[in-house]
Amino acid sequence: MDKKITVVGAGNVGATAAQRIVEKELADVVLIDIVEGIPQGKSLDLTEAAPVEKHDARIIGANDYEASKDSDIVIITAGIARKPGMSRDDLISTNAGIVKGVTQEVVKFSPDTIIIVVSNPLDAMCHITYDASKFPKNRVIGMAGVLDSARFRAFISMELDVSVESTHAFVLGGHGDTMVPLPRYSTVAGIPITELLSKNQIDRLVERTRNGGAEIVSLLKSGSAYYAPASAAVEMAESILKDKKKILPCAAYLEGEYGINGLFIGVPVKLGLNGIEEVIQITLTDDEQAALNKSAGAVQELVDLVKKMS
Ligand code: NAI
Ligand code: 2OP
Repeated sequence: MDKKITVVGAGNVGATAAQRIVEKELADVVLIDIVEGIPQGKSLDLTEAAPVEKHDARIIGANDYEASKDSDIVIITAGIARKPGMSRDDLISTNAGIVKGVTQEVVKFSPDTIIIVVSNPLDAMCHITYDASKFPKNRVIGMAGVLDSARFRAFISMELDVSVESTHAFVLGGHGDTMVPLPRYSTVAGIPITELLSKNQIDRLVERTRNGGAEIVSLLKSGSAYYAPASAAVEMAESILKDKKKILPCAAYLEGEYGINGLFIGVPVKLGLNGIEEVIQITLTDDEQAALNKSAGAVQELVDLVKKMS
């Protein structure tokens, strides 16, 4: 392939993202992890699947960053994941150190890359990467909104017994309990769900979306979701690599948009070759704006906490 994506963290999300990338022939993949043998073993396993899956993308595993040189995109999934009883925010102190160290290594070898952050707590980890990389804001993007919106879409499709392909949804705000699903902008074949579902039904789906991560954690018991998170990160990478300019909800560094300043938070953005090419401003009702402000407040608290710790 003529493109290269480095995935840091060869755990559940990272390895699944790597698998999806090579199977789609989006790019060659370098899979990096701190644990010796894991990225090498998973890469070899995926390489041996290639003849059956019929793709020619290459994947190699490593414990250092040499092989990641000149990556077009780097996806950071390194860190620890949630266990039952843990909130995303409980991960903060461990993951802050990991994400800072990973970012410093990444930029040494790929100063022009675009970084997609996945590690939690997502919005705060975006700040760590932004500060450590010193990249312009268009080249640091957080993955959360695509996942949260995909969950909302899945629940809408199950409720109405319609194809997921006919659904569209927007979830804005931080990737936490204060996230802001927007029913008015969530549609089935262009029809807002507010015309297709009762308020009770919508409230139930919104609540399930907010608890989407915790629902999976409580079932898996030993970790958190990874199939849908990997799909979401790869959709973002594909839009960038192919310059598709998809409008996707992503964590972006805002400087006044939506009345928020100096904070990463989930908003609709246009993703193309330059990373975030535009923050799309949609009109919010007073209630929606208030919910977004509340979510921004929660993200700001975490960012302040990280700053105090470092
Ligand atoms: P996992 O535990 O399966 O994998 C994490 C991997 O990171 C492990 O293989 C570990 O060895 C590696 N790692 C730890 N320190 C490292 C370092 N310094 N350098 C390189 N690799 C290192 O966890 P999983 O399920 O893959 O989740 C990864 C992260 O993504 C977690 O923080 C999780 O909370 C987050 N996540 C975020 C989502 C989102 O929507 N933003 C969705 C799902 C997970
Ligand atoms: C999720 O939403 C844990 O953030 C992760 O599944």
